[in-house]
Formats: sequence, structure tokens, C-alpha cells
Amino acid sequence: VEAKKAAAELAITEIQDGMIVGLGTGSTAYWAIQGLGARVQNGLRIQAVATSEASEKLAKELGIPLIPFADISEIDVTIDGADEVDPDWHLIKGGGGALLREKIVAFSSKKLIIVVDESKVVAQLGAFPLPVEVVKFGYELTIRKLRALGCEPKVRVADNQPFVTDNGNCIIDCQFASIPSPAELHQAINGIPGVVENGLFIGMARKVIVGYKDGSVGSL
Ligand code: 5RP
Repeated sequence: VEAKKAAAELAITEIQDGMIVGLGTGSTAYWAIQGLGARVQNGLRIQAVATSEASEKLAKELGIPLIPFADISEIDVTIDGADEVDPDWHLIKGGGGALLREKIVAFSSKKLIIVVDESKVVAQLGAFPLPVEVVKFGYELTIRKLRALGCEPKVRVADNQPFVTDNGNCIIDCQFASIPSPAELHQAINGIPGVVENGLFIGMARKVIVGYKDGSVGSL
């Protein structure tokens, strides 16, 4: 907890009056939203968009003003977590199942700041199974096409039921032996009809803040 919180607290120091802020999802982004809530209560003036129903609910509880997507063209800064970060700042995201909304928000953000604890920093992506969001229709076929890319695909389950995303889709967790070429794999997966989006975030992060067990922080 200390490591995640420390990274999140450093990240929110970048947020200033008047900014439109993207709120990430997960247990690290949680601390960023908490910290922003405290600053809003102390007079910080921001407007926010959330990357999940859960983060939206938390923001509302904390009194962070939310703005409809229709009213914005760009987001100043988004703070989000990740499941893996490599030395090129490519990411695997979607452990919490919010990868589609996270990628939509990240793509329209001037700056994406990633907050992680040290356990997420890897030399090469792929030990963490890559989450892929797929539509339910014909997903047995979609899964076969994913397997043909060289992974062991598994339908994500929650409470003994297939996990359903905020967008009404399924998540297939794809275990590759390793992911030596993340950009190519990203293209190949998104080229399969039935795939909505995958958890590889290539060249999107503009800053990575790493929290350590002793509460110290550093940049990657
Ligand atoms: C959710 C995500 C999260 O950012 C990722 O799973 C990291 O979560 P946590 O900070 O709880 O480890 O991509 O879809």
C-alpha cells in the first residue's frame, strides 16, 4: 500500500487549477483519486473524467467535479496504474478489466502519468497474462484466433460467471511465453474481428512513477 500511495501522491503534484484530469482505475489509481479529492476539498479547481464506473463513483463521493466527454476535446493529464511496465514505457494494462476506457482516455490525454509499485517493473512484457476485451458474439472463434497468435487464452471469471466489463464485453487473459515485439502483437490482436481492444499500451505513457516498499519514489 505504501509504495502505491507514495507513487500516486507524487503524481498528483502535477495537477494544477483549471486542468481536465483523467482518473485511472485500480488500487494505485485509487490513491491518486483520494489525493485529488483531498486537494479539491482544499480548493483545487479541476474537472475530471473517469476510466471506470468504480472510479467515477469514488470521484463523486469525494466531490471531484466530473465533466461529460461531449464538453471536452482533450484531457490535460491522466494518472493511471499498470500491470507491467517495460524499459521503453510500454505497458500491459487491464488487470482490473478497464483497459478499453483507459485506452480511450489515454489516447486523448496530453500527458499520461503511470503510477506503479516496484513489482510492476519488468525487463520484457508478457509474464502478466495480456487482457483482451472481446464481444460475446462468437467469442469461441475469437479465442481460437487469439490462440493462433501463440498464447494460452483464458476467459476471465468472476463469481463463477464470465467477467463482464463496464462496456458489456468479456475479457480473455492471454498468457504468452513472452512478448518480444509488443507493437506488432498489438496490431495482430486488434486485427481480429471480435476483439474490441487489448491491454498493450504502446508509446502512450509520458512519465512512469515507481513507488518502493520503504515509501520512497523514483522515475523509470
Ligand atoms: C485496470 C488497470 C489497472 O491500472 C491495473 O490493473 C493496475 O491495477 P493496480 O494498481 O490495482 O495494481 O489497467 O484495468
